[in-house]
Amino acid sequence: MEELLSHEDHAHKHDVPMGWTSSDIPLSEVARHNKPHDCWIAICGEVYDLTDFLQHHQEQRNSILAWAGRDATPMFDKIPGRFPSKQWMEYYMRPEFKTGKVGPEKPVDSIIMELRELHDELRRLEGPSKEEIEAVKTAVKVPGKTDAPTLSEESRFPKLAEISAGKDLPFFSRAEVAKHNTAEEPYMIIHNRVYNLKPLLGSHPGGDDILMSKAGTDCTKDFEVFEHSEKARVQRDRDMLVGLLSILAGSVGPRGLFGLFQSAP
Ligand code: HEM
Repeated sequence: MEELLSHEDHAHKHDVPMGWTSSDIPLSEVARHNKPHDCWIAICGEVYDLTDFLQHHQEQRNSILAWAGRDATPMFDKIPGRFPSKQWMEYYMRPEFKTGKVGPEKPVDSIIMELRELHDELRRLEGPSKEEIEAVKTAVKVPGKTDAPTLSEESRFPKLAEISAGKDLPFFSRAEVAKHNTAEEPYMIIHNRVYNLKPLLGSHPGGDDILMSKAGTDCTKDFEVFEHSEKARVQRDRDMLVGLLSILAGSVGPRGLFGLFQSAP
């Protein structure tokens, strides 16, 4: 047990986590490396450790961190010049950043899983580490580019409040939204609201593929990474808003008791 915890304490770049070989990293493990000082990204079956890269390419910081701990394959090469594109990777990302290949999820001993969860929880309770504080301090702001938004969407775009005011909307759980992942009813969560993107298919400037690859999921991060304009947000709330997200796991909409537990839009 001590060995496991001490290994995890020092888990950082180039470490291959216990229980996996470097050519066999499940996405659940990639998901744990989602911080500026410990940043892995999966793309097209390969896992990249971009921790060092981040330190030296501060101007790409926001677009890289948006994918930290995630599989960026659905977006690969969709927009040349935007991370992650082939052009971008050939130019900036060298083979030495490859940490391994994406592998299948393997049954892991339940005690190890429990210890991992406890350890992650402890790290969250401890708050930011020295490295995390340092990584944030060294961030460079790029003129003309927005920093990762910290204000609520409505504070940044006050016009939005008028659009949804007075609408009587049903509540959806994440599980319910996940079921709406077809081209007939492509639902998405953006900023704790639920949208049916059907009217956008065929006319979305970013293309339908991107939308469909995200149908049924929470796309808040993706929506912000592409710095959608106020016009896009107004169109979204005016034509596609179908509900609000209930924060109760497994809760069933519409309305009823769960409305009480609605998360702040
Ligand atoms: C209701 C939701 C959405 C609406 C109304 C919408 C609308 C738009 C509009 C109007 C643009 C043109 C640029 C602008 O005015 O901002 C755009 C661009 C784009 N959108 Fe969306 N979008 C939505 C959701 C998404 C999502 C969830 C993704 C990603 C998963 C996405 C990816 C993109 C991309 C990649 C571009 C092109 C950006 C670029 O060229 O830099 N959009 N969208």
